[in-house]
Amino acid sequence: MESGQTRDGARGGGGFVWGAATSAFQVEGGAREGGRGPSIWDTFATRPGAIEDGTDGQVACDHYHRFPEDVALLTELGVDAYRLSVSWPRVLPTGVGATSAAGLDFYDRLVDALCAAGIAPWVTLYHWDLPEALQQAGGWAARATVDAFADYAALVARRLGDRVTCFITQNEPWCAAILGHLEGVHAPGHQDGAEALVVAHHLLLGHGLATQAVRRERPGARVGLSHLYLHVEAAGPQLEAAARELDGVFNRFYLDPLHGRGYPEDVLAHYEGQGFLPNGLAHVRPGDLELIATPADFLGVNYYTRARLGGPAEGPLTEMGWEVYPDGLRQALLRIHRDYGPPSLVVTESGAAFADAPDPDGVVHDAARVRYLEAHSAAALAARAAGAPVEGYFVWSLLDNFEWAFGYTKRFGLVRVDFETRARTLKDSGRWYRDAIAAHRAAEGGR
Ligand code: FCB
Repeated sequence: MESGQTRDGARGGGGFVWGAATSAFQVEGGAREGGRGPSIWDTFATRPGAIEDGTDGQVACDHYHRFPEDVALLTELGVDAYRLSVSWPRVLPTGVGATSAAGLDFYDRLVDALCAAGIAPWVTLYHWDLPEALQQAGGWAARATVDAFADYAALVARRLGDRVTCFITQNEPWCAAILGHLEGVHAPGHQDGAEALVVAHHLLLGHGLATQAVRRERPGARVGLSHLYLHVEAAGPQLEAAARELDGVFNRFYLDPLHGRGYPEDVLAHYEGQGFLPNGLAHVRPGDLELIATPADFLGVNYYTRARLGGPAEGPLTEMGWEVYPDGLRQALLRIHRDYGPPSLVVTESGAAFADAPDPDGVVHDAARVRYLEAHSAAALAARAAGAPVEGYFVWSLLDNFEWAFGYTKRFGLVRVDFETRARTLKDSGRWYRDAIAAHRAAEGGR
């Protein structure tokens, strides 16, 4: 660790944290190694048609074996922090009970390598890879999974918390609940609105219990959740009610309970109307809302795009078909600051997929990604300058990786991965990020 740098990556004096992010299932591979148990994404990937290119996460970027090379790439970028996730079934193959020594050792080595490089590890506890054994017992729809998650969180904090300060409990509950249990396009691939809402509640409850469990193990830890923020706009006044509803199901349904307001009445009425609450709120037990509202140390904001109702996109589209709209990030951070006032905001994901390919010399000129990252990091800094307590910015992603239902067809990396050889090549965006970090630090009076 360099002098003046705190354990969460800020280089003293209120410095801004520059980072890059990945998640376990998307990069690790090593799916059968070290006693790792199967996760719901292993199972889902075997379902015909579930993954666009018919691939899976068995090898992915082979980060499980190549992590030293990836830490060297992070060093080359000069990031302060690296957001990784722990694979629950790698450390607890069936989700509860017996731990895998090899799995825990893997994260020990990874965290040690990061610390030796002066890079602060930010650890996500749940980035969607539920142990399959827990899914067999009902998955996130079963309340027992919430308790299992808190125990797992305590285990990870116990093992890594001497070197890890920042923990993210849940990544994007909306995706896990809705894409996984209503739309059926993510694992476990269910299409049941009532189940999806129970799952959403249990994910949030898991956040609250895990926050407390981590703090019990490590009183100095900082804990938060990463929310996928959708910036919603109406193209005309007649669409304002629809925009409020969409903002409700995406944003308020999660942010309100996290900040002590319970579930928003209008969104509950909307779901009631869809038949998704056949038993009302019977799954919400006394005390749950208080647990969900356990004060967090920061809120992670994952931002990609806006939804513009009733009108065409105005900016260019990424390879995901998502409109490039950087000002939505500035507005998101200011709105969350104004409406909810979390003590700190961290952009825990920001990035774009483009169909970039190497030129004959093997160089990847991903100018569109450079423009995207330049504009979005500037938007985060603009929100900070306007008074929102924005603490850092993490690019999604360090590496091209397994983009869930899209398999390897969508590339988000600062680093290209050749999925035949697993060779890594820093893209132009990686070089741009390295220079931008250095310039920002120099302007802040850093090293
Ligand atoms: C987010 C996910 C992340 C990645 C990006 C593109 O919703 O958290 O794993 O897939 O989208």
